[in-house]
Amino acid sequence: MDQNGSFSAGTEDNSSADGEALAGVTVIVCASCRDETGSDAHPRAGELLADDTRRAASDGNIRIHTVECLGNCKRRLSAAILRDGCWSYVFGDLTVTSGADLVAGAKLFATSTDGLIPWRDRPASLKRGLVARIPPLDLLKD
Ligand code: FES
Repeated sequence: MDQNGSFSAGTEDNSSADGEALAGVTVIVCASCRDETGSDAHPRAGELLADDTRRAASDGNIRIHTVECLGNCKRRLSAAILRDGCWSYVFGDLTVTSGADLVAGAKLFATSTDGLIPWRDRPASLKRGLVARIPPLDLLKD
C-alpha cells in the first residue's frame, strides 16, 4: 500500500503474487501405481510420473509430493492437485509423461478466483481423467 492508501500493481508485485499463488498449489503423485502390465518392477510407473512432474515444475514454485496410494488404483496412474481453501482434485488414467499436464493444471489453478480449476483451458488428460473433486470444508459451513 502506498502513502495514499492504494495498492501498487507494479510488475515486481505481480510476479511476487504469482509466486505466492503457485506456492499455494501442491501436486501429489502416487508413486506406487504400476504400468499396464501390473509389474512390481521398480521404478514403478508412478515413480516415473513423479519424476516427469518434478522436471516439468522445475522452473516454478509448485510443490510436488509423492504418496504410496491415492486409493484410485483401478484408474491407473493417479495424482491429485490441491490448493489451500479451494476444491481438491483427483485424476486417473495418466501416463508417465503426464507431468507437464499436471503442472499446467496446477498453474491454471493458481490463477483461479473461484476455487476451481478452470475447465476450458485444462489439459485434455485432466478433463477425461477427472475422478473426483472435493470441496474445502469452509465451503460447507453455513
Ligand atoms: S497404487 Fe496408485 S492409487 Fe493406489
